[in-house]
Formats: sequence, structure tokens, C-alpha cells
Amino acid sequence: MSLPELIRDPAAWQRRCIASRDAGTRIALVPTMGYLHEGHLSLMHEARRRADEGGRPGLALATIFVNPAQFGPGEDLARYPRDLEGDLAKCGRAGIDIVLAPDDPSAIYPEGFQTWVDVEQVSKGLCGDRRPGHFRGVATVVAKLFGLSRPHVALFGDKDWQQFQVLRRMAADLDMGVEVVGMPIIREPDGLAMSSRNAYLSAEERQRAVAISRALGDAQRRAGQGERDPGRLASAVREAIEAAGLRIDYVDLAHPETLRAVERAVPGTRLLVAAFLGRTRLIDNVALP
Ligand code: PAJ
Repeated sequence: MSLPELIRDPAAWQRRCIASRDAGTRIALVPTMGYLHEGHLSLMHEARRRADEGGRPGLALATIFVNPAQFGPGEDLARYPRDLEGDLAKCGRAGIDIVLAPDDPSAIYPEGFQTWVDVEQVSKGLCGDRRPGHFRGVATVVAKLFGLSRPHVALFGDKDWQQFQVLRRMAADLDMGVEVVGMPIIREPDGLAMSSRNAYLSAEERQRAVAISRALGDAQRRAGQGERDPGRLASAVREAIEAAGLRIDYVDLAHPETLRAVERAVPGTRLLVAAFLGRTRLIDNVALP
């Protein structure tokens, strides 16, 4: 498949998207920070499918922008992995028509920028508490990408479950007219959730990283056998992950949409984990049966 068109200038991108939309073209959008893997590509294939849903070819769009506003001080912004050339080839194979990749953050946050989107409740707890300002940065950049791209539908991964809920809430609360769709987590053969940050892991760390998805799978089985106590389920997950030498950031059971803590692990309850392997922070989650 051919390479997608690359647009660097957000204003040129917006003109292009508005003209397409005015001409009746259906637009599907996949926002990313690049260094693409099969998880991202599954969203792009779905974007291609949904863009063409109207019976005539639509526009399947992807953006690649490492968004400084969602990184805290001391986080990995400076060393976040990048590979624009490789990413463009992957986007092309996944059926993406055009990629927006601004060459400088100032293209997205020009001098004088001062408007922020704060999704108050769903941004609390979990990653929201451990990474202050993170979801404000995510919601703001995605609001801007929606404004620039005018999509009918936007695709996000369940891997970042809290992010997905924040963005759903934002699109609904602000009447953005974008259908926000979540897609299943794509995993490595041993179960590790795919992530651009997995590139940080040494070979030895990579082997131990599987403890997270194993522990979540074990908890799913225990819940399936009738264990409904969130404390007991979380403790078992915590112990199994710590036994592999990872440092827990959080293990929580939460309502899938409000992300409030639950008193009983009823079906659909979300079990979410963040853990450090050395300096690398990994997240994963599952729905309980
Ligand atoms: P990034 O981490 O690049 O992820 C882009 C999209 O891919 C997100 O919707 C994420 O949930 C999804 N994704 C990542 N790993 C996945 C996996 N293993 N399976 C399925 N989907 C997966 O998330 C971001 O970028 C940023 O916060 C962004 C939304 C682009 C805003 O800057």
C-alpha cells in the first residue's frame, strides 16, 4: 500500500478536513503519539472501515504528536521514542489517507495559548492522581485535534481506559458531535499489553513485565469463580506483581464509566493496574466477568 500524505501545518490540515467534510466525506480519526505498534494499527484499520461505512470512500486520518502538555516534570517527554518514517509506512499499510505530524509543539500551542479542558470527576483517582495535570493535557490536545480534524468518529484504545472515559465524557459534555469509540487491547503473544513504552524495557525486564497481565488474568478467573471482594482481588494482584519485582503504583477496582471505587466486584467492574519496572511505568486493565 502507498504512503499516506504527510501534513505538517495544522492550519493546512484543518482546511483540508473542513473541505472534505463540507463535500460530504465521512471522517475517522486516530490520535497517537507515534512509535506505532499493532495496538495503534488496530485503531487505524477500524478507522479505515468506519470512514468507508457510508458506501463511498471516506477519509481515514491519523495524528502523530508527542504532546508536552500531558507529561509531568520528571516524566519521559524528552526520551519518548520517535520514528516518523517507520510510522508513515505503517499508517499506509493500515489504510490511513493523511497524517498530521506537527514538527514543533508551538504549532499546537502557539504563544498566548491559555485555554484548557478539565474533565473534573473522571480525571480523578488512578492515573489522574499519580500524574497531576495529565488528563487536562490529554483532553485539551484531543479537543484541539477534534477541532482541527472535524471527525465523525474517533478511535481510542481500552489500554488507556481512564483516558477513554475522560474523552467520552468530554465529547458528550461539550457537544463535540464526535462518536468516541473504544477498541480492545492488543497484546504480545505472552499477554503483555502493547505500548510504545515497552521499548524502554531491557530483555530481562521485558520477561518480568508479563506478571501484570498474568495477575489480571488470574483475578478475572477468581472473579469468575465468585470472588466479589475488591480488597481480596486487589491484594492478590498486588502480591503477584510485586513477587516479580515490579513496584506497584496502584491496583484499583472501579466502576467502568465513573471510575469511582466499588464495594463489590460486579460484572463489568474494571480492574486497573499501574506498575514500575525500573524507571518504566506500565499500565493495563481488564473487565471482570
Ligand atoms: P498513544 O499512547 O500513542 O496511544 C494512541 C492510541 O492507541 C490511544 O487511544 C491508546 O489507547 C491506543 N493504544 C495504545 N496501546 C494500545 C494497545 N495495546 N491496544 C489497543 N490500543 C492501544 O494515548 C495517547 O497516545 C495520547 O494520550 C493521545 C490520545 C494521542 C493524546 O495525546
